[in-house]
Amino acid sequence: MGRSIKILAISGSLRQKSSNTKLMKAIITLAPENLEFTIYDGLGNLPHFNPDIDVDDGPPFSVGSLRSQLKEADGVLICTPEYGNGVPGVLKNALDWIVSSGEFINKPTSVISASPSPMGGDKAFDSLLLTLNMVNAVIVERGTMTIPHISFKLNTEGVITDPETKQGLLSLLKALEQACH
Ligand code: FNR
Repeated sequence: MGRSIKILAISGSLRQKSSNTKLMKAIITLAPENLEFTIYDGLGNLPHFNPDIDVDDGPPFSVGSLRSQLKEADGVLICTPEYGNGVPGVLKNALDWIVSSGEFINKPTSVISASPSPMGGDKAFDSLLLTLNMVNAVIVERGTMTIPHISFKLNTEGVITDPETKQGLLSLLKALEQACH
């Protein structure tokens, strides 16, 4: 059996009943055994990005933790909602902390935006890709998705009820796995 591939999974929503967090967890259950997921749960604890507190003798602990979890990961999976036609502030804030430290450089990254709207959070998706490209993440080819009408495709228990979406996610996982090899 090959070495397991470490994936850091990040949901862009802090909401208790977040569809994106449920989706992320559902994706993890679909993944092949050699993908070893860690769910990043520190998004809500990061301070607002401020270069003044990113000092040489150590950034805030929560920032250091995000950086080391990213560094240890072979790849990243992000599932995010769209707020106000853009990336949720908490997720953008986390990415701002990574711009200068470089943990995303060459990191295979899969991106999903999911929304109850017919547009699937496409503006957040596009904007997130701009930022990830800026930090030199490798956006996984065939490893991205925008998912419209998420409320009809994922039930309240977090089970993916739409076969087409499930199939798309299985292909996305395969692409992520290959990109991490
Ligand atoms: C939203 N929502 C939303 N959806 C969207 O597709 N584009 C948008 O710009 C916005 N903007 C927005 C602003 C505010 C203040 C709220 C409360 C909601 C709807 C959003 O997609 C929906 O609430 C999702 O369920 C949020 O994702 P999670 O938390 O379920 O993952």
